Parts: sequence; structure tokens; C-alpha cells
Amino acid sequence: MSILKLQNIMSNEVGKRAFLSRPPEPPANILINDPFQAIFIGNTKLFKVPFSWSFTNLTNPHIAVVGITGAGKSYFVKTFLIRASYIWNTNAVIIDWAAEYRAWVKQSDGIIVSLGKGDYLNIMDLSGMKPLDRVKQILSSFEILTDIASYPEQRRLTEEAIEQSYTNAGFVLAEPAPEDKEAPTLKDAISILEEQLQEGTYEYPAELENAIYRLRQFAREGEDFFARKSTVNLEKLANSGLVDLDLSGLPDERFRALAALFILQTLKERMRFEGWNESKGLKTLVVLDEAWKIAGDEKSDAVMIVREGRKYQFGLLVASQNPTDINEAIFSNVGTTFILRIRFEKFLDYIQGSINFSDFIRSEISKFGVGQAAVNMAFQTSLRFPEIFVLDRVRGEEPLYVYTLDITDILTQSELSAGIIQKDYQFEEEELKNKFIEYNVSTEAINSIFKVLNDQNRSSKILDFIRLLMSNGITTEDVVQFLKNLSIEDLLITRIMSSVGAVNG
Ligand SMILES: Nc1ncnc2c1ncn2[C@@H]1O[C@H](COP(=O)(O)OP(=O)(O)O)[C@@H](O)[C@H]1O
Ligand SMILES: [Mg+2]
Repeated sequence: MSILKLQNIMSNEVGKRAFLSRPPEPPANILINDPFQAIFIGNTKLFKVPFSWSFTNLTNPHIAVVGITGAGKSYFVKTFLIRASYIWNTNAVIIDWAAEYRAWVKQSDGIIVSLGKGDYLNIMDLSGMKPLDRVKQILSSFEILTDIASYPEQRRLTEEAIEQSYTNAGFVLAEPAPEDKEAPTLKDAISILEEQLQEGTYEYPAELENAIYRLRQFAREGEDFFARKSTVNLEKLANSGLVDLDLSGLPDERFRALAALFILQTLKERMRFEGWNESKGLKTLVVLDEAWKIAGDEKSDAVMIVREGRKYQFGLLVASQNPTDINEAIFSNVGTTFILRIRFEKFLDYIQGSINFSDFIRSEISKFGVGQAAVNMAFQTSLRFPEIFVLDRVRGEEPLYVYTLDITDILTQSELSAGIIQKDYQFEEEELKNKFIEYNVSTEAINSIFKVLNDQNRSSKILDFIRLLMSNGITTEDVVQFLKNLSIEDLLITRIMSSVGAVNG
């Protein structure tokens, strides 16, 4: 009897010790960093420790962000970029697939580059590189985006024609290019292939024809976005504050992917000269949001940059709604992964397999609301605490928009003329959104409510507003609570609720 009891205590004891030696959150000294050298993200869910991100102890400054549409990826990215710019003066280059950041960048006084709508990039530009290196990059992009790898002869012809056009323009293939010399374009390479075809001496003319056809896709009149003199100075791109490279004007995904790859390659070359220097902080952040086409391929520069870790003075931030679009090597090599809400089992399997977290964390992730996140960090030294923990919510950096509720429609004539009752109430966007998140209101509902309010110059009559909330599924209890928080008198709340036909509380 007493032996049994003793065993019982012992096994309890063991359980407790295991818990104590592996607490569910990293210690506070790891989570809290010097506010002048780290980016505040939010409080941890369990112990409410204010977590700030710094690359100092991490294997590298690269970041992956995943979560379903509406989970808060873009919001996180914007918050992160703004704070990095305060703290380290970090520049940002956003490779903006669908013009999602355009308005925000404009509002923040950043620079917008609109490819396909007036701006061009010559993918043969060298920015001081050796032509041979650029030729390799161009061919690697073609291999990712076209089927050229399956046709070695066409690949060879293309490579030689591109090299030849550099030579014809007076460049030495194996030497760094003089900065001021103008590069040839893909059109020059096409002409070289066409001449070969006309000469008629090459024994497989069909191979030549196909190589020409493939290159022409990127050089047709009206679609020669990458085969004309550049209007963008890539040298300056990484040092220009906030830059939005809007790719939405390009005709299709292949063009967008080619632009993104070219930009990544060029920035990487640029940063190679500068190398990593801890004390300089993060010079530039390059954002790839929803760039699924290029984050998945093993050969992509996105994957190479992350694999190379702390080699360059910049961080790559890759965001996607579909983790399976992001190469596993990115998850297993980035210094930090922010996992926002993910619902599909398949995606959870993939990411759990890539970074190895517990089923407890997995179930937390599947229950997340907007802005909640699990953070996984890879430290330089192996540490004895879990490297993944849950954040209560990403505390964002939204502009403070004030909304006004006009309650005159529920006041009596005498109350109005007496002039002693407050006629309007105000709240901030952030404040209401936080409430909604607390009430588990869907992102669609939040967006549709704010759309209506914004169309009315951020103001509304109280009864219209309450009807709007209720038609978006917000419960009577939550509406009453919200009105109380605005410090509207109970008497008036009762009047409001009965005017909209709701049972009052
Ligand atoms: N941490 C957060 N706090 C408050 N609001 C948020 C937060 N994250 C996202 N939101 C809001 O939720 C909506 C969807 O966020 P968004 O970043 O566009 O999602 P995603 O890019 O993942 O599709 C936006 O209206 C945004 O302002
Ligand atoms: Mg987004």
C-alpha cells in the first residue's frame, strides 16, 4: 500500500521535473532584447513576456512567414519593416506580386517601381558583375521558368548567343564589367541566333529555331519588359528606404517570376561585396510575399540565399499562404519562422515535418485567430529550451484612424435641445479590430464592416452601425459590451438595442 503510494509520488515527481527542465517558453532573457537593437513583435501567450526579435543570437536574419489568407502575414511584414527602419535604418525592397503593398508604400513615402507599366529591367545588365556570372544566372532563371533544361543543345546555343552579344558589345567575359558601359539586350542574342540560322551551316536548324522562339517570348514588341534599356537603377535599389517593385503590370506569372529572380540575383551580387558585419545591423530586407513560383525551386536564389545564411548584409523575408510552395530547405535553414493560422492538415503536416514541433503547438496553430502566431527560432548555440513558442498576437503598427459614431438618431428632441448629452463617440480602428478578433469575428466580416465605414468617411449613425455589426454576425452581447466600452450610458444602450429590435441585456 505505502509502496504503491510512494511510486505514485515518484512518477508525479518525474513528470514535474520533465516539465521544469523543458518549460513551454524560452526564458525571458532570450525573448527580451535591448529595445534599441531589437524589434518588438508582441507578448508571449503563456507568460505574457514582451518578445522582441533580434538576429544577434540566430543562425541568420532570414525569415519565413506562413498562414492562410487573412491570417495577418502582410500586416506582420509591414509592422516588421517599419520597426526595422526605425531601429537599424533598414532599407526594404518588396517584390510585390499583386500590388498588395503599393498603396501602403506610397502612403509611407516610399518609391514605387511599376514593371510592365512604364518601368523596364534589362536582364543582361551587369551592375559591375562578370558577364559569365550573369550568363549563368540568366540560364538558371530560364531553367526554373521554361523547359530549356530538357533541351541541352538549345540551352548551349542560347548560352553561347548571350555570351557572344556581350563580347560583341566590347565586354570581357571573365572580367568584372566597367560600371558605365551599356549592356546588350536579349534582342542582340536573338539576332545572333537568327544570323546563324540564315547562314545555313548549322546542322540542326530546328534546334536553332526553337532556341530563338523561346528567347523571343521575352523580347516581343510590347512584351520586351526585360529586353530594353533599364529604367531602374538596381545599384540604388537596396539603399533607397522603402521600395515597392510592383510586378502586377506584367502579363503573366512567368514574367513576374523572371523579374523576381533577376532582382534577387542582382541584390545578392550587390551585397556580396559588402559581406556580413554584425555591428552594422540589417542593411536591407528583401520581401517575397506570395512569390510561390520562385520560393519552391531548389535552384532558386531565394533558396540559395537562405542556405548561405549570414553571408550578406541583408535578410530575406519569404511569406506564403501555402507552406508547400516554400522549399523545405527554406524552413530548415531560416533563422526565424512565424507561423500564423493554418487550417489544412496537409500544410500542418508539411511544416511540422520541416521544423519539428509538438502536437500541442500544432493544435494551437490550427486554432489561431487573426494575428496570433507561433515563432520558431534557430539559435547559433544549441539551447536547452524549446525554440518554438506562441505569441498572443502580433502587435501591429497601424495608422491611427479615428471613427465617429453619431448617436443623435436615438436622442429625443428635448435631449437634443438641452445640449447636455454627448452626441458622438469615437473609437480607433486598431481598438475595434482588436475587439473583433477577441469576439472571433471573421476577417471577411471585419473587412466588410470597415469598407462600409470608410466609404462613409469613417463615421456612421449609431443605429446603422449596430445593424451593420449584427448583419455581420456579431452577437447582441458583444455589441452591448462594445457600447459599454465606449462609455455610453446604460439607459442609452438599452434604447439603442431596442431600436434595432435586439433583445436588450
Ligand atoms: N496582428 C493583427 N492585429 C490587428 N489586425 C490584424 C493583425 N493581423 C492582421 N490584421 C488585419 O486582418 C486583415 C488581414 O490581414 P493581412 O495581413 O492582409 O492577411 P494576409 O496577408 O495573411 O492575407 C487586415 O485587415 C489586417 O489589418
Ligand atoms: Mg497578404
